[in-house]
Amino acid sequence: MNHFINLKDISAKDLRKILIDAKKRKSLRKNLNNLDVDIKAPLKGKLLIQMFEKSSLRTRLSFYLAIKQLGGSTLTLRPDELHLSKGGESIQDTAKVISIFGNAFMLRTNSDKKLEEFKKHLSIPIINGLSPSSHATQILSDVFTIEEIKKKPISKLKIAWIGDSNNVLNSLISASIKFSFKLNIGCPIAYRPNKKILKYIKSKKNKILIYDDPKKAASGADVIFSDKVISMNDKGNKTKKLRHFKKFRINKELIDFAKRDCIFLHCLPRGNEVDDKIFLSNQSKVWQQALNRIHVQKSILLYCFGKLR
Ligand code: CP
Ligand code: NVA
Repeated sequence: MNHFINLKDISAKDLRKILIDAKKRKSLRKNLNNLDVDIKAPLKGKLLIQMFEKSSLRTRLSFYLAIKQLGGSTLTLRPDELHLSKGGESIQDTAKVISIFGNAFMLRTNSDKKLEEFKKHLSIPIINGLSPSSHATQILSDVFTIEEIKKKPISKLKIAWIGDSNNVLNSLISASIKFSFKLNIGCPIAYRPNKKILKYIKSKKNKILIYDDPKKAASGADVIFSDKVISMNDKGNKTKKLRHFKKFRINKELIDFAKRDCIFLHCLPRGNEVDDKIFLSNQSKVWQQALNRIHVQKSILLYCFGKLR
């Protein structure tokens, strides 16, 4: 059994195994419907329990289809209906019950500490479906999408992130280290990654560069990523932050600094950090990116169940 919380804690070899499995499984589903089950139904009879403490559209739907396609099923809990929140039931007891009734637990949470607490008390795998510091399932799936579109290993590509130093970027930084790709980060000085992450970047040498000029960050990129300036856990002054990010908006002028065949990715939902002209262009691969969450999460589930081929 394996947990899937942060990319930095999973070996590069296992991450690659997940991507290889996802590619194989995706190619075998060309003529199947969304609810058709993969040959051999490897997770037949298994229940994935999901809980969302924050809003979700894609993660919710993609995990639902992922476990279904593997032959299992899912149940989504609302945190406000459990005793855990208002009734004072402990994480320890909640985790025990979830482990008795379910076979894996996917949690989207406001607290990284809560993920660790659940991990400690569960006897089944836990998957991080987004936390304040990480969005690991999203970024592993994005690596898959990039390699699928570019038809080469991500280690041969230059990736640019133009946006806030948030959970999605943290996972992208970890991916850059695990998969050895060049990463340019473009963000205002006041919104750079925190000290701990800067230290981590420094210790890994040279492949990750941070710019306060978005054009420099975008220069020569094969992929440009962005995300909402204001994330769900943001508590700071939003008007001020949006003002600081004004010149980091993804538009035609900025994307022209990247390679001609550069693609645009965004985990969604979007705010107004990207022009419609780019978002709706052929360069934008955001719908393929969203769809691939299903395929990669299936292989993440198999990894968690110790069933990766
Ligand atoms: N990208 C992503 O995780 O989307 P949701 O918040 O809709 O799940
Ligand atoms: N950074 C965003 C990602 C949403 C999928 C947030 O945490 O709100």
